[in-house]
Amino acid sequence: MISIGEKYIKLDTPYTSMIFCRYSELLEKVYYGKRISDMPDYDILTSHKRKYGHSSSDDVITANMTFSCYGMGCDREYSVELKNYDGGYANKFLFKSAAVVDKPVIDGMPSSYGGAETLELVYEDRDYNLELRQYFTVFDDTDVIAASTRLVNLSGKAVTVKSLMSCQLDLDESGYEIYSFTGAWARERFQQKNKLDCGVFSNNGKAGITSHAVNPFFMIKSPARVGGFYGFNLVYSGNHKEVINASPMNITRVMIGMNDFAAEKTVAPGGYFHTPEAVFVYGKDKNAVAINMHSFVNGHIIPARHKKDRPVAINIWSSLGFDFNREEVMEYAKKAEKFGMEMLIIDDGWFGNRNDDASSLGDWTECEKKTGGLKSLSEELHKIGLKFGIWIEPEMISPNSDLFRAHPEYVLRNPKREPILERNQLYLDLTNPEVMDFVYKSVENVIINYGADYVKWDCNRNVFDAYGLIGGADEDYCYRYVKNLYAVMDKLVKNYPDVLFEGCAAGGGRFDLGILSYMPQIWTSDNCCPVDRVYIQESTLLGYPQSAVSAHVGLAVSGALDRKTRLKDRFAVALEGVFGYECDITALSESEAEEVTRQVEFYKKNRHLLQYGKNYLVESAFDGFASSRVIVSEDKSRAIALIYKMVNPFNTEQNKYRFEGLDDDFVYRIKPYGSDKEFIAKGDVLNSYGLDFNNLFLREWKGEYYSEIHTLVLIIEKI
Ligand code: GLA
Repeated sequence: MISIGEKYIKLDTPYTSMIFCRYSELLEKVYYGKRISDMPDYDILTSHKRKYGHSSSDDVITANMTFSCYGMGCDREYSVELKNYDGGYANKFLFKSAAVVDKPVIDGMPSSYGGAETLELVYEDRDYNLELRQYFTVFDDTDVIAASTRLVNLSGKAVTVKSLMSCQLDLDESGYEIYSFTGAWARERFQQKNKLDCGVFSNNGKAGITSHAVNPFFMIKSPARVGGFYGFNLVYSGNHKEVINASPMNITRVMIGMNDFAAEKTVAPGGYFHTPEAVFVYGKDKNAVAINMHSFVNGHIIPARHKKDRPVAINIWSSLGFDFNREEVMEYAKKAEKFGMEMLIIDDGWFGNRNDDASSLGDWTECEKKTGGLKSLSEELHKIGLKFGIWIEPEMISPNSDLFRAHPEYVLRNPKREPILERNQLYLDLTNPEVMDFVYKSVENVIINYGADYVKWDCNRNVFDAYGLIGGADEDYCYRYVKNLYAVMDKLVKNYPDVLFEGCAAGGGRFDLGILSYMPQIWTSDNCCPVDRVYIQESTLLGYPQSAVSAHVGLAVSGALDRKTRLKDRFAVALEGVFGYECDITALSESEAEEVTRQVEFYKKNRHLLQYGKNYLVESAFDGFASSRVIVSEDKSRAIALIYKMVNPFNTEQNKYRFEGLDDDFVYRIKPYGSDKEFIAKGDVLNSYGLDFNNLFLREWKGEYYSEIHTLVLIIEKI
């Protein structure tokens, strides 16, 4: 709910409030946290005017603003950096008006849907005839707030936007603890913690894609006087930047938006530039942030038609690689059908002369020697009740390809030098409309001519050859690239709404809300080793719902790094996301085959809960010895607990585990998966007193101490 009064503007979400106070020509954010009551005047409790600020109304040296720029007395990091028509960098935006408006469409960008109300704040720089408009959208069913900023040029001369962040949140106090999610291929989104007392912390995504190096999702934990956690994310798939600036004045500024590196934009007279949408949330703890992010992504980012159970897949990549034939594929298919799986995915290698990663990207015509005809394969799979999935990497071109020989001009490159190869491949120049059409048709081809029900859209490298503004254009290459990519995806998902798309970028290098606006799930990492996956998934699940996190029982990194783990542990870890297999299911022993059949049956029976239940992380693998979580149904009558013990120190006391999210008053039966034991206890006892699972672990260790991870899956049902 949004209320706009003479002095205060108040935004309420189900459990949080944000309050702005107007005085003179400034607007200050005076509160953001747990929902609080309306008061005629919050001034009774505090004087908003900063004690150490100067007396003039436009002095913002310590004010908690919704934006910041040079020229208004502030010396912190800025969210708005312009170059005015006269070459100057100073602006003075004064508060003009507030209104509840329709949520604006951000041209060429995906953004959240289903908002309840949108607040528009307008600031104006009268000297340069510019307007800054900020939008805050609240939702009925989540505490997440979506925000974006538009710079409007009302003058008769062009203005250059050097940097425009999507949102700025100024907070009281310093000493925030920053949880960022950084990594590399096969080690995506590993949680990092940094405490910031004074200075600037910045995440700088400059890979052209969201990147393995740093995800735009991050959290901050407040110092005790403020309390609680804040989470942030960005609906964008290109270069991004997150800035946290703790000032010596004991205040902290948080900003998130597009990266300003090589990203100047010219706004013509009468025109505007609108940033991608940022989202943020306040919650009392990490779980409150994560659960809100999950409900927001499921209900307001992922297209509503995909809010249904996702199929159990078998992907042949890790075991067969580039070298497969129809007979082998059908052998997988028959086993998959027998085990209860629902979809078979042909990964890389089905096209051109693709026998390794050195050729053929762009030649999206099937190699019949391997496939025996994809259309007929798709039909054969359908006949035995399996869906047909296919991999494609449509944004890429191999120098050794027919496409390259026919259209060298399609390659993204600086005309003055050779482009940089990564995994033997180059980017197609998606700023060329002819290339956009080519990319669209490449994907459409696998849907209409090969009968794909599912498309895994890969992107195996970073952008290193964007060389500046595109032919006289007013935007930089990377931004235009992302916009055009979205345009192609948008057209495809509109024309083929029933196809299930899965995002991928050398594992999880493009895991973001922009991609999720089109594709409901993303391949989380090429690393399927359960030990590493626990960390990767735990971090990913803080910002993204389990329905988006593709997780397979597999080999480690395509077989390259195999730790000592057991099938049951691989299964238990893959239960955290959209479940499938990525290993040789034709080579399983009889007992393994039986185990896999039971696993698939278990997942299918519980998949709705596992994909959409409320997900409480109880213990973090980053903090200690285990990762444990409870996934609880909406009515709290069913839950599944997943416990992954990573470290087994010798001769220490093994304490109890407790649960979260269960109803204190319900009585539950708890059964460990694969065992005939059961426990009965009331919810309050389980939530607080806990259970000693170590007895289960310990007994089992006697014979199998070699495994590097020990897991427990508990089925919890109200009786
Ligand atoms: C990337 C993906 C893998 C697989 C290979 C194929 O690495 O992340 O899952 O599709 O490409 O080359």
